[in-house]
Amino acid sequence: MKTVVTVLGTRPEIIKLSPLIPLLRERFRHILVHSGQHYSFEMDAVFFEELGLPAPDYTLAVGSASHGEQTARMLSRLEPILLATRPDMVLVQGDTNTAMAGGLCAAKLNIPVTHLESGGRSFNRQMPEELNRIILDHISTLLLAADETAERNLLAEGLPPERIRMVGSSVIDAVERNRQHALRSTILQRLEVTPGDYLVLTLHRSENTTPDVLPGMIRALGELAEEHTIIFLLHPRTAAAMRTCGIEMPRSIRVSEPLGYLDTLRLVEQARALLTDSGGLQEEAGALGTPALILRNETEWRYLVDAGRHVLIGNTHESILAGARRWLQPEALARLRAAPAPIRSGASERAVAAMIDVLESVA
Ligand code: UD1
Repeated sequence: MKTVVTVLGTRPEIIKLSPLIPLLRERFRHILVHSGQHYSFEMDAVFFEELGLPAPDYTLAVGSASHGEQTARMLSRLEPILLATRPDMVLVQGDTNTAMAGGLCAAKLNIPVTHLESGGRSFNRQMPEELNRIILDHISTLLLAADETAERNLLAEGLPPERIRMVGSSVIDAVERNRQHALRSTILQRLEVTPGDYLVLTLHRSENTTPDVLPGMIRALGELAEEHTIIFLLHPRTAAAMRTCGIEMPRSIRVSEPLGYLDTLRLVEQARALLTDSGGLQEEAGALGTPALILRNETEWRYLVDAGRHVLIGNTHESILAGARRWLQPEALARLRAAPAPIRSGASERAVAAMIDVLESVA
């Protein structure tokens, strides 16, 4: 039996890999490595619990650190595990430091790497995620793209077509598998909100949490919260950045700790709209039928914007207020909601089938 090591370490990786892990465990000797990039209960363990995932076989416990230090810890702690377990393939997902370090460590040991969510590009190299994606795609053996745009990006960078498979996005599978369970969530009662009568806000990207950008964004969102109930699911990075920048949370905004997966699905499903800079949530909202106003100038998950379901409203005080006031009008919102979102499930099965193909061809 072939051995596959999956390396994960952050909230989005746990969610997006969750539908693949049971399939991998059926087909391979599967070893799960957790980098420990995320470690708080509400950023990590709650997702293992709710998604019924097996405990990691190895934990690297790297914790928070500068990019260089964090990546170095991952490389030096993962290498002996890969040498000892001798996998036939290493699977990583997305664009985090964990994914990049996992892929790089394996590639340096000549172990084939599969990159799920390959080919996403913002074309903004100031983003740490963009550098991680580019590095990973160029050292991986199997490039699993989520959509046609991602596939085109890979071809444009000269990556060989035989390495690329368009499988779709596993976020959709995760939503479909858990949507029913999310009905049990009591989050609406706990937050005392009425379905359709509030906005959900998340904000954490490094380019949005700098001292020149964050104050204007929070001011705009505070003003918007005078007009709409806004529930802000506060990421630890953003809480820390607000403290560093000396920004007070506007009293109009209702703040919550980061929520578990089922609570998040339920809260987003029943929201009037989502305000976010997260990639995973854009897709989850798309699958749940909730329009998203994206607090960025570009997105790697273009298909929902192209379909007319989500819109980009930028990250300045003026652009956020103008964009939100325009798109939160009932008629505008109804148009976004009515846009047919090109949501396709089954990415997880297609991804694992592609891995089996590659491993069988080198048997
Ligand atoms: C990382 C990913 C980002 C992804 C995001 C999802 C990189 C470069 N970025 O960003 O692509 O969208 O995860 O959340 O890999 N912290 C805690 N508890 C935790 C984890 C973090 O308190 O469990 C705090 C720490 O103060 C830490 C900060 O959050 O310094 C940032 O965490 P980090 O993992 O460095 O990056 P994220 O912003 O979470």
